[in-house]
Amino acid sequence: MKAGRNLVSGGAAAAWLLGLVLVLVVLQTDFLQQITHFTVASITHVSDEMAYKVSSSVSEITRKQQQQLVEVAKSKAPVGMPNTTDSVADAPPSLTSSDEIGSHVVDGIKDLKHENEFLAMDGQIDGSMQNSDVAAPRSKLTCNFSSRHMDICAMEGDIRMHGKSATVYVLAASNDSYWPENGTVTIRPFPRKHEVSTMAKVQEVTIRSSAPVGTTPPRCTVTHDVPAVVFSTGPDSGNFFHGMSDMVIPLYITTREYNGRVQLVVIDYNHKWISRYRDVLAALSIYPVINLDIDNAVRCFPSVHVGIEYHDTLGINPALSRNGYTMMDFLGFLRSVYSLKRPWVTPVNLSFGQRPRLVMILRGYSRVLTNEAEAITAATEVGFEVVAAGPEVVKDITQFAQVVNTCDVIVGVHGAGLTNMVFLPHNGTVMQIIPWGEMKWPCWATFGYPSPGMGLRYVEYEATAEETTLKDVYPKDHAVFADPLSLHKSFDDMYKYFLDGQNVTLDIDRFTGDIKKIYQSITIT
Ligand SMILES: *[C@@H]1O[C@H](CO)[C@@H](O)[C@H](O)[C@H]1NC(C)=O
Ligand SMILES: *[C@@H]1O[C@H](CO)[C@@H](O)[C@H](O)[C@H]1NC(C)=O
Ligand SMILES: *[C@@H]1O[C@H](CO)[C@@H](O)[C@H](O)[C@H]1NC(C)=O
Ligand SMILES: *[C@@H]1O[C@H](CO)[C@@H](O)[C@H](O)[C@H]1NC(C)=O
Ligand SMILES: *[C@@H]1O[C@H](CO)[C@@H](O)[C@H](O)[C@H]1NC(C)=O
Ligand SMILES: *[C@@H]1O[C@H](CO)[C@@H](O)[C@H](O)[C@H]1NC(C)=O
Ligand SMILES: *[C@@H]1O[C@H](CO)[C@@H](O)[C@H](O)[C@H]1NC(C)=O
Repeated sequence: MKAGRNLVSGGAAAAWLLGLVLVLVVLQTDFLQQITHFTVASITHVSDEMAYKVSSSVSEITRKQQQQLVEVAKSKAPVGMPNTTDSVADAPPSLTSSDEIGSHVVDGIKDLKHENEFLAMDGQIDGSMQNSDVAAPRSKLTCNFSSRHMDICAMEGDIRMHGKSATVYVLAASNDSYWPENGTVTIRPFPRKHEVSTMAKVQEVTIRSSAPVGTTPPRCTVTHDVPAVVFSTGPDSGNFFHGMSDMVIPLYITTREYNGRVQLVVIDYNHKWISRYRDVLAALSIYPVINLDIDNAVRCFPSVHVGIEYHDTLGINPALSRNGYTMMDFLGFLRSVYSLKRPWVTPVNLSFGQRPRLVMILRGYSRVLTNEAEAITAATEVGFEVVAAGPEVVKDITQFAQVVNTCDVIVGVHGAGLTNMVFLPHNGTVMQIIPWGEMKWPCWATFGYPSPGMGLRYVEYEATAEETTLKDVYPKDHAVFADPLSLHKSFDDMYKYFLDGQNVTLDIDRFTGDIKKIYQSITIT
């Protein structure tokens, strides 16, 4: 079917263009207070100084305490703990993984449950293993490099993670595991694989897979009984579109199924990002985030994902998601995270004297509406209650999510602020104002294409050559007007002229007409 094919190629090309267009759509970064009460696991010290166990009981601690937690792990590391990846390769061949269990006991971890976990794990494969010289395989490594957005490795069994060396050890891997050349594979755990400049900001995580016999791994200093998910916050620029599309949604896809019982592990730890999305993180995981960059512990997990799963621009593909999650599920999750009260937009009955609400996203530097006051007046005269949201207002996600959720319509010139559409109630309307310069397609790919998946109605308003401030700068015969597409060939040009280089002066009559149509579609008498 023609439409279907267009959509597919549209999606692929959209991703390409997004890489170019959106990575540079700059939104002011913000300084959230260093707040935060994370919901967190309590830590119980176990028998000696060497190890502690993360229990599943939940309490509240502050970020400061969270830091201390990491410090504790660091200071409790045993003397002589292997501190480099050489520990695997240097091991005497006679040491088997059952020796490894023995050494744990000898080293004085007397937490019976801890011990039993090891035994149980081995017992699943070979109950007699404890007395055997040859360990049975007990771990499995699976990697998928086929997506153009991300590389992902998942591993389960006896998995040990050393933070500072950013290395994950897969102990005694089974023969149906993925076996990288030389037993080592590296992954940059951020889902923009196709963007060289972005990925340069992402540190590599090394995964070392060892055969059942002949290696000794670093010893666990902390044992967790829940899976871990490792991801990078390095490339964060404070841009809300990228925060949602590249990080929050992929994190949801990867971790939601664990219902909070999952350990988030962050490499390239970015305080601002963690602070900004604290509510989402606390809802996805009941444990404090681990900062891998400064973590000297060797943490053992029953399973680990390195990398987060990206499906689409502000989207989730249920067919690719293990639990069939949809974007609607994600939006429901956001509503619960931010305690948003309105799940649906319902037609406004004007006879009750009610007015529909419209939030207008106002930018401060580029793609500014030069006549924003007139635009607000126009929408008000049409009958809307207008909420004008400048950069300062938009900054605080927690507060602004509430504001957007009270509205029926969101309007703004193309930019990251429109991403706040995720907080609109179901069946809300998005109006994207597209700046001059043949920008319709990339703008649509960013916010138009994902709208149906979010249950939102999408409307476009494309600025004409009369509505751009570029006309004050360039003559009519300049390529900016004569052949805008020719300037798309160079990303820098396209950005310079059409994203960074113009403000928009709306034709108020035309704008009023379009706003009125929306008004009529969502009101009754
Ligand atoms: C590893 O530890 C030894 C002492 O235990 C120390 O001399 C060495 O510098 C450490 N190496 C790294 C990479 O930290
Ligand atoms: C690997 O990832 C691709 C793209 O995300 C997906 O289509 C494919 O099913 C995955 N392969 C496996 C074996 O999971
Ligand atoms: C893989 O391991 C299983 C038991 O763990 C064994 O039965 C099988 O023969 C092995 N396959 C190969 C190809 O080595
Ligand atoms: C594997 O090891 C060999 C020998 O040390 C080396 O030449 C080769 O480059 C290594 N391959 C990878 C992928 O690291
Ligand atoms: C709107 O409210 C008026 C006044 O209560 C009522 O008569 C009318 O039926 C309502 N319209 C709809 C479509 O519900
Ligand atoms: C757009 O408007 C802002 C705010 O008035 C101004 O700082 C900026 O220089 C303008 N940009 C252009 C390209 O006119
Ligand atoms: C969504 O809103 C439109 C416009 O008000 C309306 O025609 C449509 O019936 C609504 N859809 C649902 C499912 O409520």
